[in-house]
Amino acid sequence: MQVIGTEVSRILQNASWIRRMFEAGIELKQKHGADRVCDFTLGNPDLPPVPEVGRALGRLAGTVDQPLSLGYMPNAGLTSTRQRLAEYLAREQQVPLTAQQVVVTCGAAGGLNVLFRTVLEPGDEVICPSPYFVEYGFYAGNYGGKLVPVASRLPDFRLDLQALSAAITDRTRVVLIDSPNNPTGVVYHQDELQALAARLARANAGRERPIYLVSDEPYRFLAYDGVAVPPILPLSPFSVAIGSFSKSLSLAGERIGYLAVSPSMPQADELLAGLILCNRILGYVNAPVLGQRLVEAALGATVDVGIYRSRRDAMAEILRHAGIEFPLPQGAFYFFAKVPGRVDDVQFCQLLQEELILAVPGRGFGLPGYFRLTYCMDEAIIRRAAQGFRKAADRARAKG
Ligand SMILES: Cc1ncc(COP(=O)(O)O)c(C=O)c1O
Repeated sequence: MQVIGTEVSRILQNASWIRRMFEAGIELKQKHGADRVCDFTLGNPDLPPVPEVGRALGRLAGTVDQPLSLGYMPNAGLTSTRQRLAEYLAREQQVPLTAQQVVVTCGAAGGLNVLFRTVLEPGDEVICPSPYFVEYGFYAGNYGGKLVPVASRLPDFRLDLQALSAAITDRTRVVLIDSPNNPTGVVYHQDELQALAARLARANAGRERPIYLVSDEPYRFLAYDGVAVPPILPLSPFSVAIGSFSKSLSLAGERIGYLAVSPSMPQADELLAGLILCNRILGYVNAPVLGQRLVEAALGATVDVGIYRSRRDAMAEILRHAGIEFPLPQGAFYFFAKVPGRVDDVQFCQLLQEELILAVPGRGFGLPGYFRLTYCMDEAIIRRAAQGFRKAADRARAKG
């Protein structure tokens, strides 16, 4: 009996590497005890939500006896939330924005799905620099689109502008960047983005179906050492910024994100009408009402970036001591490090598992020979893994 569709069946059979490692982790934890296993696989922000969220929840509790306080709302979100978001994003993106140019979505993931549903035709291509957030392929595939990963420059994972330009075809509909990046932690420079936008402007000249420059930026607030995350909306009239409060307010389960459309986009009203319709017909209907009110109250606050920076520094020190090479992440909460010795990334993750350390092979993000670590866990767990990293790296080198 075929109880599910062939496409979903195929995806299930090729379980993602993150999922496989997650399952290996459950087994290891059952066998050795959860507190002995150092799990660096999942990017689930562990810090509590900012205090503004708790205070706002307390206030909201006193208002929910009003009719429709938790009812349906306009598909694009609460007017007051869109208004506040527009003011906030106008400062962040350095362009004038009105509430009409902002749509509140179910996280950045919901925003990406709404955008793809709105603009993609079956067979359209979405170009993204690789290594990349693996869900992008599924999101594009949901609407018949095809992800076209383009290798980034090594060893620092900066954009390969020539390769990105060369990947543009008649079917290209979106160029999708993610900065600060999951999995590499790279933050793209203003001049790289400007050069990319200039190439897209040339490709878009006279084109009936424009290529959108889309920036997925749920880690925008999380940049270290004074590194600036340049805004995307001033760079191209066909740009869309997508973000969320999953990480900045530690609100990932509340599913609040946004889409903001460049104020200089031709026919922006048509795109926005499509986005708002798709927010509805994809079944999201609207983003969660409590989450929108919480974001409205807490907008501008962020969790303590210093905590993440200190964890990054701890992890960097441990990896260096183990003789493992990596570009120092400038943002987000991931390391994408080079596998030492001559073993491959799956074999190295196996050696790490023998030391009760869980990491995801780089091939899970489109680049074998590397492995990804997250650092959204207590610094004590990171420090506890030091000896295990050293032993696994020594064993990998001994095999090489
Ligand atoms: C690069 C990237 N984009 C989008 C998302 C989706 O985040 P959310 O939908 O919670 O905003 C994630 C989550 O980890 C991510 O890493």
